[in-house]
Amino acid sequence: MACRLWQTRRRDRKERREPGRIHDHRQRSPSRAPYIRAKGLLHTQLLVLYCRHRRGRPRRSRFPRQSDRSQHSHPTIYIPHHHTDQVGAVCIRSRTSTQVTLDRLCNLILSLSIDNGNPSSRPNTPMVTVRSITVSPPLINTACAWASDEPQLAALLDCPHTGAVTTRTVTLGGFTEDASHTVAFFKDSLSSINSYGYSPHPLFSYVGPGGWIRTLLNRTPNTSKPFILSITESHPTDLRLMLNAIQGLRATHHRGSQWASRIAIELNTSCPNIPARPPASYDPAGPALTALLDVLADAFWADPSLTIGMKLPPYVVSTQIDDVVRTLGAYSRVDPESGVSVNPIAFLTCTNTLGNSLVFADQVEGATGEFALSAGVGGLAGEAMHALALGNVYAFSKMLAESEDPALREIVIIGAGGVTSPEAVARMHRAGAKVVGSATLLGKLGVAGFELLGNAVDSAS
Ligand SMILES: Cc1cc2nc3c(=O)[nH]c(=O)nc-3n(C[C@H](O)[C@H](O)[C@H](O)COP(=O)(O)O)c2cc1C
Repeated sequence: MACRLWQTRRRDRKERREPGRIHDHRQRSPSRAPYIRAKGLLHTQLLVLYCRHRRGRPRRSRFPRQSDRSQHSHPTIYIPHHHTDQVGAVCIRSRTSTQVTLDRLCNLILSLSIDNGNPSSRPNTPMVTVRSITVSPPLINTACAWASDEPQLAALLDCPHTGAVTTRTVTLGGFTEDASHTVAFFKDSLSSINSYGYSPHPLFSYVGPGGWIRTLLNRTPNTSKPFILSITESHPTDLRLMLNAIQGLRATHHRGSQWASRIAIELNTSCPNIPARPPASYDPAGPALTALLDVLADAFWADPSLTIGMKLPPYVVSTQIDDVVRTLGAYSRVDPESGVSVNPIAFLTCTNTLGNSLVFADQVEGATGEFALSAGVGGLAGEAMHALALGNVYAFSKMLAESEDPALREIVIIGAGGVTSPEAVARMHRAGAKVVGSATLLGKLGVAGFELLGNAVDSAS
């Protein structure tokens, strides 16, 4: 393995005007190996380097002369497309002699979008377009307690192994959380049971001035990685207020980045842990759900670029799945200009946790008392519900694919439930999921869990 300096001062001069962007030189350098060019990725003290996989042991690169350094206040790094998975322990040295391993460097590169926000140019990375958002790679965290606040959302945004960040479910005023709301992990499998409601932080903390999503979008203008804002309210008026606030954020343009394509919403009507409020999705044709769908549909027809999804519970009877599809189908409309049928719902996330589950304290880590949760019953997740989640993904995928309504055939399924291994990711794809999500694994391993799943996503493309 070796490193050497690539002399590109002429191009550097031209492109120094656009620091922080990544350029793909495949078109301009047809005679050479294709290179990803990354500018402004790291601390400005880093120098211009070219890294390439070769036989032999790693060598220190030749550094630019002192006089060149001032010209390269924004670092430029070249990595051959076909070697990004091979380059290894290359040393990047700054003026202060700090060394950064290429491992970290590659993570930084992958955490930014390539080719000015078009992730399709990221080598070998599959992508799925869901209306106006792009998910690349098609692996995400699903809404959960570990996606509640700014540091957690920042870690998920910076994770190079996921293609979108889903927030914990947010309400207009914030959910009142106490010690009875908690989670426990099983001893004998990667499963969990939880009694959480929704995020204790109000919508304002996420999308208001100085809100976390606003701050994080500001910080990453060159990536197209979207946020999926999980939201819920039981009153249509409150849901409408939430949508107005989110649409205000989506209308923002910042340094050439259009936030409309970086924010989607997911309506969660499937949380099993809210006392006296059964999940509205268990009664798909009922007034509680349709009143909320009416609000979503209004927002969509006012702005058809809005990517809307629904988080569904695990259904155990196939007629429930028929009912959901029939209810959604009633919202399709034929666009008078194009003659194409369009549905406000762009994706379905299957599934949420399995409510009313009981686990004893001796089955989980660190619990005292009789039950794993002081509340007794809670929502089951992880490997213990994988087969049920797969069954739901399969049934929805099949029913939507066979629908006579082309708008329903367009709906993307995000598969979640027991995704804790590359094999589980592959099973979700086989069942019909285009995007795969995970929550329990995130809670157990942190964002490193997604690296573990990553290989399966690449091979599924
Ligand atoms: C601790 C915890 C909190 C969760 N919170 C939410 C939530 O706020 N909103 C939501 O839609 N789903 C929530 N879920 C459900 C997950 O998004 C996911 O649908 C479910 O756990 C199945 O995926 P898994 O097996 O990977 O955990 C939560 C799950 C867990 C374990």
